[in-house]
Amino acid sequence: MLVILKRDDEEISRQAAQLIAGTVQRNPDLRLGLATGGTMIGVYKELVRLHKQGTLDFSRVVTFNLDEYLGLSATHPQSFHHFMREHFFAHVNIAASNIHIPDGTIRSNYDQYCAGYEEAIHKAGGIDLQLLGIGRNGHIGFNEPTSSIGSRTRLKVLSKETLDDNSKFFAPGEESPRCAITMGIGTILEARKVLLLATGAAKAAAVAKSIEGPVASAVSASSLQLHSDVTFIIDDAAASQLTQRDYYRRVMEMTALLTPERLS
Ligand code: F6R
Repeated sequence: MLVILKRDDEEISRQAAQLIAGTVQRNPDLRLGLATGGTMIGVYKELVRLHKQGTLDFSRVVTFNLDEYLGLSATHPQSFHHFMREHFFAHVNIAASNIHIPDGTIRSNYDQYCAGYEEAIHKAGGIDLQLLGIGRNGHIGFNEPTSSIGSRTRLKVLSKETLDDNSKFFAPGEESPRCAITMGIGTILEARKVLLLATGAAKAAAVAKSIEGPVASAVSASSLQLHSDVTFIIDDAAASQLTQRDYYRRVMEMTALLTPERLS
C-alpha cells in the first residue's frame, strides 16, 4: 500500500489525474473503474484539461462506474449518470458504447441485473485501474459497514450516515434514495490497481482505520489491505489521525527515487 500525502484537494486532483493519464497513455485500451462524489470533481476537471490540451485520448478506454442510486433516472440531477456526464463524459472522447453505469431505474430481477454488470466487467477483461473515494463510515462504492469482503455487485441498503450525508443534495421535501446498486468489495478487490482519494477532516477517522486498523467488515475500505497494488492519495486534514505519517513520507521519497513509475 502506497500512501501519498498531499497538502490539499488541488494537489490531490493533479497527482491522481497524472497517475490516471499516465496509465491511459501506456494502455490506450484501459478498463477504468470510476467513482462519483465531491472528491472526484477536481480529478475529472484535470483529466478534461489534459484531454483538451491534446495529451490524453480516451477513444479506446472502457469505463465502469462503481454505483448508482436505485430509483433515479439518468437525467435526475443527483443521479451518478448525470454527475458523470456533467463532470467528465460530456467533455472527453469516451465512446458512449464504452461507458457502463449501473441502471438505477430497474424495478425487478435485481440479482440478474447485477450478475449482468459483473459479466460485462468480466467480458471486458476486468478492471485495470479502479478509482475510489471513501465515506465517513469507511464505505467504498456503497459498500456500507458490515458488507462482506467477498461481496459482488448487488442491491445495497444505504446506512443512516450515508443518508444524512446525501440528503443535503436533494431538494427540500424530496426523499433521497434509500438503496443503491454497487459493485461489491470482492469486485473492487479484483481490479488490477486501486487508487483511493480522500480529503478533509471528516474522513480522517475512516482513513486511519482503513490504512492502520485491522481488516474488518465494519470499515469496508480496510479490505484494501488485502490488495497488492493500492495507492491512497490523501490531504493533510484526512491524514491527521494516521500515526505513521513520517514513514509514509520516507516511503514516498524512496519510491520517487527507485520506482518513479508507480507515481505516474
Ligand atoms: C461514489 C462512491 C462513494 C463516494 C464516497 C465519498 O461513486 O462510490 O463511495 O466515493 O461517498 O464521497 P465524497 O467524495 O462526496 O465525500
